[in-house]
Amino acid sequence: MLRAALLAVSLLALPSLAVAQNADVIKERKANFKAMGDAAKPTGAMMKGEADFDLAAVKNAIKVFQEKAALQGKLFPDDSKEGEKTEALPAIWENKADFEERFVKLAEAAKAADASITDEDTFGAEWPKVMGNCGSCHKKYRKPKD
Ligand code: HEC
Repeated sequence: MLRAALLAVSLLALPSLAVAQNADVIKERKANFKAMGDAAKPTGAMMKGEADFDLAAVKNAIKVFQEKAALQGKLFPDDSKEGEKTEALPAIWENKADFEERFVKLAEAAKAADASITDEDTFGAEWPKVMGNCGSCHKKYRKPKD
């Protein structure tokens, strides 16, 4: 009887263990992405000609992208596939090496842009090479917006 009860308890416990999710890591990566998005915002307005060129804002975005990209690869452990309204797609965990490599590429592009962008013309030519890293990864690995 006791045995059966214990078995029942352990069986009940199993599924909840299997779906236990790492909420903190999801919040952390979202906060890092949000910081990247916030830093990118003024540069997007500049690209569209809706704001004056501001080298300091570009350099800030470059710095934030480099700092955050270095952290993000490790913030997608197996227990963070669901919860916290994550927009991460399962494809991340099926292509982990490609996914992590994309953060390295983003950091490299940001570093190159730091050297090449000195004025409005070089910004116009070089910035899309950095921002392309965001969009191409979102297309493959982030849930599309409704
Ligand atoms: C290697 C892939 C990858 C790259 C590169 C990448 N992102 Fe993302 N991004 C994601 C994924 C995956 C999510 C969804 C994360 C989640 O919800 O758990 C996301 C979410 C976001 C979010 C929403 C954060 C929130 O509040 O939920 C913003 C904003 C964002 N990214 C901006 C950027 C910007 C700006 C760049 C480029 C500078 C960038 N991302 C580069 C994969 C990437």
